[in-house]
Amino acid sequence: MQRLLTGLQPSGALHIGNYFGALKPFAEMYAEYESYLMVVDYHALTSLRNGDELRGNIKNVVRDYLAVGVDPAKAIIFQQSQVQEHTEFAWVLECLVTVSFLELGHAYKDKVAKGIEATAGLFNYPMLMAADILLYDTDVVPVGEDQRQHLEYAREAAAKFNKAYGETLKEPKELIQKSVAVVPGTDGKKMSKSYGNTIPLFGTKDEISKAVMSIVTDSGGDKPEHVFAIHKLLKTETELAPLYEDNQGKYKALKDALIEDLDALIAPMREKRSAITDAEVKKVLDEGSAKAREKAASKMREVRQKVGVAL
Ligand code: TYM
Repeated sequence: MQRLLTGLQPSGALHIGNYFGALKPFAEMYAEYESYLMVVDYHALTSLRNGDELRGNIKNVVRDYLAVGVDPAKAIIFQQSQVQEHTEFAWVLECLVTVSFLELGHAYKDKVAKGIEATAGLFNYPMLMAADILLYDTDVVPVGEDQRQHLEYAREAAAKFNKAYGETLKEPKELIQKSVAVVPGTDGKKMSKSYGNTIPLFGTKDEISKAVMSIVTDSGGDKPEHVFAIHKLLKTETELAPLYEDNQGKYKALKDALIEDLDALIAPMREKRSAITDAEVKKVLDEGSAKAREKAASKMREVRQKVGVAL
């Protein structure tokens, strides 16, 4: 059976870009694979320095995974930091790639350009992500377009390891669904927490309305492009055509229709989510992390042997 793995950072509330770009594709295909769904909490330390907030976010992301329908009996849902092999293996990989190679990282460059502190953690981020993936002999990684280069980095790290120590690591492939590769935000740019242009995945109807009402429509024309771009995530262009023809130039009516369509998707998941207890979240994470640890420990034993630290 092929192995599928993905992860989301608990750096804040998930948004519909995370959902359409990664979570929904995962939820639609995970049952056909041996599947792993991570909460990449150590990655979140690159942007978050508040213990209580991170603790809350970790639990919330697990709630989100369960609410969108991922069954912990069919996928291993786990917490990155509970599997210490990830940080251990990242060090080994960091010793194989060069600084100039990591300096080409888009995510790193973008964040630094935005004024975010260039910590060593932010710089090495792609090698921790490579470790996340390579430890599990992962075949397929469903992600959004912004992670494409990180998958290239993971393949390159695997190739370097294999070249140095002999065939050990599998080169993974990204799976990026074209129609949702870059979900646009309320300003038409990529939806991202750091751009402040998100529509929350599990917001209340009021929060969804507020976000939709803030969608920029002053680009002119009869059809508000940014509203339509988000609407297309929910319905086909054929389904939307009559609505947009009947309401040319009526931005408020179109936004109201989008709010209703978003809420129709989110309301049932929101309800499911509210019934998930802290105890359930803890149980899912503890059980999933124990299973992941077993797999990761076995791979790490092989890595330690190959690099020569196992005597
Ligand atoms: P993160 O937490 O930023 O985002 C989680 C997932 O959501 C996708 N995504 C989007 N997709 C389409 N349009 C958007 N506007 C949009 N915004 C976010 C991301 O592409 C991602 O798939 N580095 C990763 C986390 C990670 C990981 C891993 C992923 C760490 N280790 C191992 C896969 C495998 C990240 O920061 O994702």
